This record gives sequence, C-alpha cells and structure tokens, in this order.
Amino acid sequence: MKLLAVVLLLLPLSGCLAEVVPDFTVNCSQFFVNPFGIVSPPTTFIDENHDRYKLICQTLNNKIEFATYYDMKNKIPVYSAYRFEGLGNCDVQNSWFIEPQLDSPMRGGKNMGHEAGVRNCGANQALNSDYDDVKENDVNKYDRGHLAPVYCAKTQSCANATFTLTNAAPQNPRFTRGWWRTTERNLANFLNTHCIKAGLRAYVVTGVVPGNTDMNGRVRVPSHYWTAFCCLDNRNNHRHSGGYVGENIEQGKEPQRIKRRDLEMRLRNLYRTVFTLFGGGC
Ligand SMILES: *[C@@H]1O[C@H](CO)[C@@H](O)[C@H](O)[C@H]1NC(C)=O
Ligand SMILES: *[C@@H]1O[C@H](CO)[C@@H](O)[C@H](O)[C@H]1NC(C)=O
Repeated sequence: MKLLAVVLLLLPLSGCLAEVVPDFTVNCSQFFVNPFGIVSPPTTFIDENHDRYKLICQTLNNKIEFATYYDMKNKIPVYSAYRFEGLGNCDVQNSWFIEPQLDSPMRGGKNMGHEAGVRNCGANQALNSDYDDVKENDVNKYDRGHLAPVYCAKTQSCANATFTLTNAAPQNPRFTRGWWRTTERNLANFLNTHCIKAGLRAYVVTGVVPGNTDMNGRVRVPSHYWTAFCCLDNRNNHRHSGGYVGENIEQGKEPQRIKRRDLEMRLRNLYRTVFTLFGGGC
C-alpha cells in the first residue's frame, strides 16, 4: 500500500493530462468516502510500468461527474465510484463516448469525446464496434453494462456522462435487464430512503471481475458485477454500508444484500488479492 503510494507520487505530472489523473485522493476525491477524514478509494492494483491501469476523473462539458479505475489490457473498468444524491429520473442517451486520453495521452482533451474525434483509437479501450459487430441472437452478444448507472444520476448532465464506454463492460442481456436492474433499483431506493432523506452522504462503488472470455476478440467479459455503498453522517461516521455481487450469466440468482466485509472477502477470492472497498472503513 505504502509502496503504491510512493510509486504514484513519482508519476510524471503533465499539464496535458487533465482528466486521466495520477491519484484519486488528490483529483476527484469528492467521489470517495472519507471516514476519519481520510479519502479512501477502493484497492488499486500493482502496475509497475503504469501501462495497464488508469485513473479517470470522468469529465463532460468540463464538469467532473464521477471517477473510474480502468484496465486498458482487458478494455473494461475495474470500478466506477460516484456520489448518490437522489433519484433523478433522467433520460437515457443512444450514443456512447470514449476517453480520448487513453489512446492519445498528449492530444486528448480532458473531456470525454466521440470516437470520430480521436485518431487511431481503440488500442487501449473498447469501442462501439466491439459491442455492435456481434450479431443479435449470437451467444456472444452483450449489452453495454453501466457501472455508474444512469438510474442513480440526479442530474441530466451526470446521466449523460455515464454513457462513456470506460464506464461500461459486456453484460449478459438477460442479467442487465433482469437481476442487475433490480439490484440497481433496490440499492437506489434504499439509499434514497435511509441515507439521503436522513441527511447522510451516500457513496457508491460498482465494479466488475474479469472472466475468461473475450467479446469481439478484444474486450474481456466480466464473470461478476458487484456494487458497494457507504453512508456517512456529517461527522464522517458511517451509518449504513453493504453490497451486492451477481454472476454475469443468463440464469443467475438475485443478488442479495451482504455486509461490506463479506463482499470484500468474496472480492478477495475473485481478484486473488486483498481488496478493500472503503479503505477498510465503513
Ligand atoms: C490534480 O489536482 C492537483 C491539485 O488540485 C492539480 O494541481 C493537478 O493539476 C491535478 N491534475 C490533473 C491531471 O488534473
Ligand atoms: C444530454 O444529452 C442529450 C443528447 O445528446 C443532449 O440533447 C442534452 O442537452 C444533454 N443534457 C445535458 C444537461 O448535458
């Protein structure tokens, strides 16, 4: 943990990189819990050459809306973190952004953008064609599964920003439209009733575990989707926490709410490394 912190500090800071950032505790810290006043993002992995995992402050129209930890090798996120601020009933979009800086670190602007605006994009991230080129009814056809969900966005600008492929991973269509949607709604309703209406701050992290197969020969299909929450009061004491994990398959079971600690144990087994969700707090 200490070693990783040192390594991150040594990363070259470039004025061009306004959105892919070196450290979540400095840039976009507002999306992470701060029990005891310490900003506590979930685990990040060892990445000695800094060429696999990127920290993204998801920015649209110069406004940072949430944060994503992205795996350029698998071309899917590890997790997205956001504040839940209430139910917004926002419109969905039908086009998806990408992250220009992943493929064009020096020229990409800090905002998410459309593929057409980035030369040679796709080496480090999934593109729309990865999802679209697989025919309907093919067993390898997947939905673009949101991590930070549009359903939980309070504002339309935040809802729009969730439509970026760095916030998505291949999701089994029946899982997307079934148990995972139910889980997103259960979670949003719980947070709305027990945290927002009670005057607490609600923090959510949603992630995926890479499975063993690829979509379109390029993009890793997750074996599991998971989500965790923590609600803090105005003295930064945690009042509610928990999470869900579900298998990304057609015939899954409804994810049940489990304790934060039990979700961390599940994730430790799935990622094969110690995994903390809120820095061990909550
Ligand atoms: C990160 O935040 C620091 C401190 O606010 C700022 O100086 C720096 O420019 C930011 N870096 C990026 C890449 O946005
Ligand atoms: C959201 O996206 C839609 C479609 O691109 C656009 O018309 C609308 O102005 C956007 N809303 C905001 C608040 O950015």
